[in-house]
Amino acid sequence: MHKGFLIVLEGIDGTGKSTQAEILMMRLRKSGYDVVYFREPSQSKWGREIKRKALHPDSLSPEEELDLFLKDRKENVEKNLKPALVRKKIVILDRYYFSTIAYQGAKGIDQERIRRMNEDFVVDPDLVFVLDVDPQEGLNRIKKRKKKDKLFEREEYLVKVRDIFRSFKGEKFIHIDASRPKKDISAEIEETVLDYLKIVGVRPH
Ligand code: TYD
Repeated sequence: MHKGFLIVLEGIDGTGKSTQAEILMMRLRKSGYDVVYFREPSQSKWGREIKRKALHPDSLSPEEELDLFLKDRKENVEKNLKPALVRKKIVILDRYYFSTIAYQGAKGIDQERIRRMNEDFVVDPDLVFVLDVDPQEGLNRIKKRKKKDKLFEREEYLVKVRDIFRSFKGEKFIHIDASRPKKDISAEIEETVLDYLKIVGVRPH
């Protein structure tokens, strides 16, 4: 029996995935589905610690970063994801462990090791949208939020992160060209999700 439905949005900084998550949530609610939204890093004490330390990019080693993201995710899975899925909700999740494989993998940690550490405890997602955009374009969109001298360094890093995101293959991954107009992207995501829900027999309330 299907217990809820987990939809993940992934992508590098500046793909517009949070906006798309919000649009998708509104559309699904309009169609009568019971939807909740979560994001990682979460609101937990670990998530807050990540946010605090992320303001000083080199204050943590890659392994320390990995450890914090795993702690935050464990809490998110137990406190937020599992309870919502048991109640048969549709969960929209803004970033999940594919971000860890991509971002911490791009810092040199073995990607398969990161995957295994996560797959030990996570809930398997049903659909994973990977929003893809050129790192330079992504950074341009969020430029106001970053210091200019850090942008080039960030771009080089995001090129590696993007390559890892693009390497994810399998039935549940849907790679989306996020350089297109916002409404085209949201239409594609909505259509894919509604088709999928129909196929697996998840109906509105
Ligand atoms: P997020 O809050 O999604 O930032 P934004 O809204 O700017 O996209 O994520 C914060 C940063 O944390 C983002 O640069 C990606 C990074 N991150 C990791 O490095 N590893 C992870 O496992 C996750 C979930 C995020």
